[in-house]
Amino acid sequence: MATFSVKEVLNGKAPSDTSVTVQGWVRTRRDSKAGVSFLALTDGSCFGTLQIVVPNTLGNYESEILHLTAGASFSATGMVVPSQGGGQSFEMQAESVQVFGLVEDPDTYPIQPKPHSMEFLRENAHLRARTNIMGAVARTRHSIAQAIHRFFHEQDFYWVNTPILTASDCEGAGEMFRVSTLDMMNFPKTPEGKPDFSKDFFGKETFLTVSGQLNVETYCMALSKVYTFGPTFRAENSNTSRHLAEFWMIEPEVAFADLKQNADLAEAMLKYVFTAVLNERGDDMAFFEERVEKGVIAKLENMIAKPFVRMDYTEAVNILQNCGQKFEYPVAWGTDLQSEHERYLAEKHVGGPVVLQNYPKDIKSFYMRMNDDGKTVAAMDILAPGIGEIIGGSQREERLDVLDARMEEVGLAKEPYYWYRDLRRYGTVPHAGFGLGFERAVSYITGVGNVRDVIPFPRTPGNVRF
Ligand code: 4AD
Ligand code: MG
Repeated sequence: MATFSVKEVLNGKAPSDTSVTVQGWVRTRRDSKAGVSFLALTDGSCFGTLQIVVPNTLGNYESEILHLTAGASFSATGMVVPSQGGGQSFEMQAESVQVFGLVEDPDTYPIQPKPHSMEFLRENAHLRARTNIMGAVARTRHSIAQAIHRFFHEQDFYWVNTPILTASDCEGAGEMFRVSTLDMMNFPKTPEGKPDFSKDFFGKETFLTVSGQLNVETYCMALSKVYTFGPTFRAENSNTSRHLAEFWMIEPEVAFADLKQNADLAEAMLKYVFTAVLNERGDDMAFFEERVEKGVIAKLENMIAKPFVRMDYTEAVNILQNCGQKFEYPVAWGTDLQSEHERYLAEKHVGGPVVLQNYPKDIKSFYMRMNDDGKTVAAMDILAPGIGEIIGGSQREERLDVLDARMEEVGLAKEPYYWYRDLRRYGTVPHAGFGLGFERAVSYITGVGNVRDVIPFPRTPGNVRF
């Protein structure tokens, strides 16, 4: 007996002249007076459920079917027929039903067929994938990741797997998780009484990476167009809806590219991804539109249709200072923009995404290319309405003398970065790249407002459940 997914059946892929098997979990069960039960079957393959019509003539009708409740697992075999009722293309007339597992105590089963708060679902992270919203997020997250890989592959970028364990702090913000095998209660000590990391597993102090950029630059200097897509970690104590301690990042790096080409690439990538999601995830996007963010589909369509606004940091500061809006944090040239400023620019001033460029050097990382004014660097952030920064990137400093001066200025020792400096000593070229925060992108595309709800197992301060 051939087995079909719910998605295949609802899309008319199952034959109409022979019985087939479907399998999954009960979403709801309804018993009619006429002696038939209707099971809504979900297997997660798509948003929809398949209606299974079960007659009371089946041998296990009383003993098992009438005990099926939300979350119970079963398979059903029968003919797929056009659905009588509205709302669905096909349904199944069951000839047999095999129950795999009932739900032990249906009244206390956490995932009841009713809306739950996102906080409650986070508490039940092991079961929340069974809800409509988390299923839709998981499928959309998959489609976004696939579209990103497709976008780069079609343009002859190579995916490079940069390491997760590292000895260098790419962003220089000191937000690194330390990885150590030393017994911290009883560690070997240096003469100063500090933990002696030369006795540690790697013989030096080691961290979880905050970004794959520096490593991927090495491959860029050989393969020209590359990207990383992997997990990154930040020990920043930020309890906000846009910060995670563990998140995924997409970081392309392009040789011979300048800041403008970098911004063009980021814009093209985002538009490609929005288009793919609208094409592939119609059912899930319709759910987000109805239940999560009214207008989310039009938002994506608008962004695909219009060029992104690009603006210099200096101009943005002027706008913020003269807009008449009261901010919690005052704005002055040279200070980093806060989320409230980023959101004002994207939401109120532009009404769409905005690419901010050429930031003061002092608020940006050491590797960004110095502009001719000696005050700003060729950086770019893409700010999105509702969320703020989703992309951070720059043209990189390819001139060794300028890089060295900058490293000295920010107090970075040359020796640990000898390999990064070597790239500037042996055939250096202008190059640029950016990092897209994957969860921020998923949050923006789905309208699900908190990044904790778009990653299966969120890690935030004080929070690692399993
Ligand atoms: O702006 P960031 O720190 O840039 C870099 O790491 C560069 N090395 C990227 C590059 O040029 N290759 O981080 C990039 C993006 C941010 O724009 C944001 O979307 C996301 O990563 N991000 C976070 N997402 C979730 N939780 C956090 N704690 C994040 N920190 C950054
Ligand atoms: Mg940034």
